[in-house]
Amino acid sequence: MEQRLRLHHNLVREIMVCTLCRLHEARKNPVPGEGPIPSRVMIVGEAPGRKEDEAGRPFVGQAGRLLDKLLALANLSRSEVYITNVVKCRPPGNRDPRHDEIAACMSYLSRQIQLVEPEIIMAVGRIAGATLYRMAGLRWRGIRADRGKLVYGTIAGRKVGIYATFHPAAALYNREILPLLEDDFRRLGDILRGNKGRSLLDFL
Ligand code: URA
Repeated sequence: MEQRLRLHHNLVREIMVCTLCRLHEARKNPVPGEGPIPSRVMIVGEAPGRKEDEAGRPFVGQAGRLLDKLLALANLSRSEVYITNVVKCRPPGNRDPRHDEIAACMSYLSRQIQLVEPEIIMAVGRIAGATLYRMAGLRWRGIRADRGKLVYGTIAGRKVGIYATFHPAAALYNREILPLLEDDFRRLGDILRGNKGRSLLDFL
């Protein structure tokens, strides 16, 4: 097995038995993330919900079905992208993950980025946006200000594009968000098409 796949396998095994924060107490299953390694695109959500906690897989509920449709607007299928979350275990009652929980889980995300080597990380929702901007040393001004913008930063020693958008779950209860989310995913497709065969990093 390629070294990188072996390291990913080890990482998943660590997450499966992780007790670094209190979220392990109520989880049914940790949700490490999944997808091809390497991948041009990495999708990072907030945290597993009820369905994800039951399945041990990211974005399998209603928000996940919308995510699949949005990916299709970018000409991507789920099997082509690596999908994970900022925290790997479900916060009770789907509350926001707390700062200490995000901090405890951050090294897993950082190692995933090292292994997946994405050109673009799509941060879905304000928690993912704020976390990835912070990891890259960028100033986060909020989801409405920073969504739909491709910015560059360095995470785990790698230059990477970060592209934040709304969380699909937000569009399920606020329909005004849906067209904006669709625009952001269409533009992701344009960016990837424009750069096919070249690394986005060649454009820096
Ligand atoms: N919402 C998220 O942020 N992540 C999931 O995996 C599911 C719903």
